[in-house]
Amino acid sequence: MVKSYEAGGTEFRLSVPRLDILKGAKLAFVGESGSGKSTLLELLAMILRPTESKAFNFQPAADGQIHDIAAAWESADADHLSDLRSRHIGYVLQSGGLLPYLTVRDNINLSRRLVHRSTEDVAEHWAERLNIAAQLDKQPAKLSIGQRQRVAIARSLAHDPSVLIADEPTASVDPLHAERIMELMIGLVDELGVTLIVASHAHRLMGRAGLQMIDHAIDAVSGNSMHVTVSDASS
Ligand SMILES: Nc1ncnc2c1ncn2[C@@H]1O[C@H](COP(=O)(O)OP(=O)(O)OP(=O)(O)O)[C@@H](O)[C@H]1O
Ligand SMILES: [Mg+2]
Repeated sequence: MVKSYEAGGTEFRLSVPRLDILKGAKLAFVGESGSGKSTLLELLAMILRPTESKAFNFQPAADGQIHDIAAAWESADADHLSDLRSRHIGYVLQSGGLLPYLTVRDNINLSRRLVHRSTEDVAEHWAERLNIAAQLDKQPAKLSIGQRQRVAIARSLAHDPSVLIADEPTASVDPLHAERIMELMIGLVDELGVTLIVASHAHRLMGRAGLQMIDHAIDAVSGNSMHVTVSDASS
């Protein structure tokens, strides 16, 4: 798969010759700012249309079927892609991405509302797990940055996705809280059997959290290629 951008007379090209991510894997793409981490996560989340895509298959644990994502992009089947995305992917945006006019409760419930699932006691359950139970009736602006990140993680897991994709989930919090948030997130994905894909600058933090690191894999200067097989955590 290839994604290229051209802007201001420069080209950015991310090429992924091969990438296999197996169920239950926990991995981090680590690289410099501008190296293409967010671009890669958005491709994997089926948000960003690849420039070229020879093959891109997605087999969500929840339905077991193999979906041909390359073909869906080719035929511009936006409904299929958005259906897969909303059912099987949890996404924590680099910027947090909470809706400012909704309460914490409604932000957490949003991912389930999108797929028409019951929200009864859901926000309460996730808020308890992520130590933000006292924040449920507040709007995001009234929360600390670390609390907002925890709300974003709660929202990304509330609809029982197969894959959690988190873009710099701890970039805006201090090192102590970053470690706590990573511990919470790892604990939850281990318990739920969710595949975790993180992008981060924080090499040491990712290592301590026990994530498999894909380092220097994305190299914007030298033509950037990646050839990685990420093994099944359970095998
Ligand atoms: N919409 C766009 N149009 C043109 N170029 C873009 C666009 N989005 C990103 N780029 C370029 O693609 C490259 C990779 O960007 P990306 O956001 O993936 O990097 P990143 O590794 O996530 O960086 P950071 O660590 O700062 O978040 C950058 O050089 C950026 O300028
Ligand atoms: Mg980024």
